[in-house]
Amino acid sequence: MSAPNLTPFRPEIAGTQPDYAANIYGSTALRAPRHAPVRIAQSITETTGPQFRQDRYPGNPDISKVPTGEAQGQRIVVEGHVRDEDGKPVPHTMIELWQANSCGRYHHEGDQHDAPLDQHFQGSGRVFTNAEGKYRYTTIKPGAYPWRNHHNAWRPNHIHYSLFGPGFATRLITQMYFEGDPLLKYDPIYNCIPDEAARTRLVASFELGLTEPEWALGYRFDIILRGRSATPFENDQTPAHAHAHAHDHGNH
Ligand SMILES: [Fe+2]
Repeated sequence: MSAPNLTPFRPEIAGTQPDYAANIYGSTALRAPRHAPVRIAQSITETTGPQFRQDRYPGNPDISKVPTGEAQGQRIVVEGHVRDEDGKPVPHTMIELWQANSCGRYHHEGDQHDAPLDQHFQGSGRVFTNAEGKYRYTTIKPGAYPWRNHHNAWRPNHIHYSLFGPGFATRLITQMYFEGDPLLKYDPIYNCIPDEAARTRLVASFELGLTEPEWALGYRFDIILRGRSATPFENDQTPAHAHAHAHDHGNH
């Protein structure tokens, strides 16, 4: 067993994360801190765990069906890599997923949107990256749904992601969107990320090579977690496109 890597993780890159309070995203006012965060030194707690092992947390890489039948909707496969800011793969890390069904409704009592439920779609899954940091799962494309942020507000198609990565300081909760979605330009959650390149990194790309004939469309979605501060830069000169931190958007 190797010694734990206690090197701290880098701070977030300005502009790649949404503000805690965003005027265009109403409910942030209810939960945003009113005081500036207090920076604490990263200790063994934040740099080495928690670790979720696949043998203890069984994966569920195909949420397009349940034992009693298949979900309605457009079947898709999603594949990508999880890497850190230095381009190193993040192996054997847990990814949790949740999403609305193909009609845009969550399998949750809190969702009373007037759209049908699907008895064959539970809407949550769990996958792990392999030794090369690659993950893959099968689902159905989620539908858009209305929310009450403003008049005629609709969320774009999206899948929620949760990752811990190698340490708690790399914790990432984000959303994956779909290339070409006309709702993106109207979505306050997507648009409250200041940096345009950072926003764009949340959009999965359609890929014919991942598409399986007669079966499912393929999308690619790569994720970049914080890297270690092992290389001391006076200024962080890592190219902006190398950062794909995203954002905590609650459950919308
Ligand atoms: Fe959502």
